[in-house]
Amino acid sequence: MKRSKIEDGPAPLRLGVNIDHVATLRQARYPEPDSPNIEPDLNIAAALCERAGASGVTVHLRQDRRHIQDRDVDRLRAGIITKLNLEMGNTPEILQIALRILPEDVCLVPENRREVTTEGGLDAAGGAKQLQPAIRRLHSAGVRVSLFIDPLPAQVEAAAKLEADAVELHTGAFANSGRKDDLDRLRQAAGFAHAQGLQVNAGHGINYSNIAVIKTIPHLAELNIGHSIVSRALFVGLETAVAEMLALMR
Ligand code: PXP
Repeated sequence: MKRSKIEDGPAPLRLGVNIDHVATLRQARYPEPDSPNIEPDLNIAAALCERAGASGVTVHLRQDRRHIQDRDVDRLRAGIITKLNLEMGNTPEILQIALRILPEDVCLVPENRREVTTEGGLDAAGGAKQLQPAIRRLHSAGVRVSLFIDPLPAQVEAAAKLEADAVELHTGAFANSGRKDDLDRLRQAAGFAHAQGLQVNAGHGINYSNIAVIKTIPHLAELNIGHSIVSRALFVGLETAVAEMLALMR
């Protein structure tokens, strides 16, 4: 019997849900870990994202611990069945934690204590000397490393030189401006990163409206989306909010 050939289509765009703001809600009422009433539970949030079809769960363990706490990354590590993507600044303390819990992926981000959220991309070009040892140690431990960078050729080139596995292109400027030149920068950086053999991810400020345009950026493998999904979850529930985003991504 003649078998029909199955054509390989492009791999579907994957979604990592950033659940930092589930922890923000918890910290607003229960900053102490030992309250009997503590809620919402991050592992339930992660499980609902996974059940809705997310490919992974993302959290940012910030130096100031404003939302995600050390115990959260331990519990999430134990409970997540897809993959854990740990966003982190390149500091010795946080690096030690990453090497202990061994997330599948680490995304190195810049961190500024006074910012409301991660503002600009990492200076991979200017900070190569500090980044290289951290990337090497994470690689030796079997952790894949992504660098969160602005969509600029020099940053992509630096990420490739540092042998990062992926770049996460900062979509914040486009999300705020909606301008074509910001989108063009993302498209060009994505093409350049792909040509350098880097996996192309994107994140920051992606929502249910701009996803239609964001997903047209070439070579995208993975999006990390947090605030918009968690906000929508207040009205429709987390599982539905994730499923709706996935439907728009496809
Ligand atoms: N990717 C990175 C590297 C981030 O720092 C953040 C914000 O924590 C996100 C993605 C998610 O951004 P947003 O909450 O705007 O969807």
